[in-house]
Amino acid sequence: MHIAINSEQLYAELETLASFTDAPPPAVTRIVFSKTDLAARAYVKKLCTAANLALREDAVGNLLARWPGLEPDLPAVGTGSHTDAIPHAGWFDGTVGVLGGLEAIRALQRAGFQPRRSIELVMFTSEEPTRFGIGCLGSRLLSGSLPVERARALADREGRSLDHVRNAAGFAGALDDVVLPKGYYETFLEMHVEQGPVLEQRNIPVGIVTAIAAPASSRIWIDGEGGHAGTVLMPLRHDAFLAAAEISLAVESAARATGAIDTVATVGVCDVFPGAVNGIPSRVKLEIDVRDIDLARRDTVLRAIDRACDEVAAQRGVRLRKEVLNADPPAHSSRWVVDMLAESCEAFGIPCMPMVSRAYHDSLFMSRVTDVAMLFIRCRAGVSHRSDEYSSPEDIATGTKVLAQSLAQLSL
Ligand code: GLV
Ligand code: MN
Ligand code: MN
Repeated sequence: MHIAINSEQLYAELETLASFTDAPPPAVTRIVFSKTDLAARAYVKKLCTAANLALREDAVGNLLARWPGLEPDLPAVGTGSHTDAIPHAGWFDGTVGVLGGLEAIRALQRAGFQPRRSIELVMFTSEEPTRFGIGCLGSRLLSGSLPVERARALADREGRSLDHVRNAAGFAGALDDVVLPKGYYETFLEMHVEQGPVLEQRNIPVGIVTAIAAPASSRIWIDGEGGHAGTVLMPLRHDAFLAAAEISLAVESAARATGAIDTVATVGVCDVFPGAVNGIPSRVKLEIDVRDIDLARRDTVLRAIDRACDEVAAQRGVRLRKEVLNADPPAHSSRWVVDMLAESCEAFGIPCMPMVSRAYHDSLFMSRVTDVAMLFIRCRAGVSHRSDEYSSPEDIATGTKVLAQSLAQLSL
């Protein structure tokens, strides 16, 4: 079988998808269930229909586009990723796995391949936590990793519930029906840009992910005392933002204190109320993201942050409320799928290397219901979640070729 990737078409489709953005191009902002997200989804659905895939959308908006195999009742081979994007992101995060997955299927169709197992492309809803605070919403629900009552309790910044927002976007079914039946997939492969510098530094186009780091995130509400910035004297203040600042520094210290290069922690959201230059901040919301390859070490950081919160609250006379959004264990790829991906690379003479993913992906949750592995594609300077994220058309085509070969192998 001769697998030929249409690199030009794939890159043009990535470019078109990037044009669905709420930020000035080339930046991409595509928040789940926004008008722009819905338009981008419509574009992907049009491409899937043109490839003769059978489309299904579930109640949370996951798109499952199936190329039926000769034995359609067998567990399918899945591939895919996400197309939502954090504010001011780039073209490639997630999209490469969706449109690259589609191109891999089309390349197999052009080669005259006929799968025995069905091959299914998945576009997961809201891999990014921007709107509802929790990442991998679609894959959590598909894999039964998020209790439906917890999903129903999710709300966006404006206080609109997930049910309200998804219904308004046209996804009306019951969330209970999203979970996949047992044995739905035989395997799941996700292709994604590396979002780190390792492949570029080693001059290797493709990585094979053996494990995904353990992510945790939480929200902290700090209630202090507001007032007039000119008239309330310094010794009398209970400034919520200053408490937040101290907590943020404690987050950094807690991560550094492990001494491990794999521990990372970030305060990525700091909403200050009332947000006036001459008003003392009375209320702050922080969102904190902590990750590590090692679960126990990650949890020592979480505990250190909890202690720091108590200390700061006592010293500054502010009240804290904490909500744990998620604290997930790491995921491990299945050895045989990793080996099979390495064999596919070898078959084409493509250099590859095993690596760990420090970013999380929908595969973190798909690993709970099927065997998974991921293909990473080299990106420029390790830049991601930024508008200057870049992977070359050649590297994307290389990864897509390996993906196509592997999907073919798995679907036999
Ligand atoms: C995914 O976007 C992550 O934050 O790792
Ligand atoms: Mn991302
Ligand atoms: Mn991603």
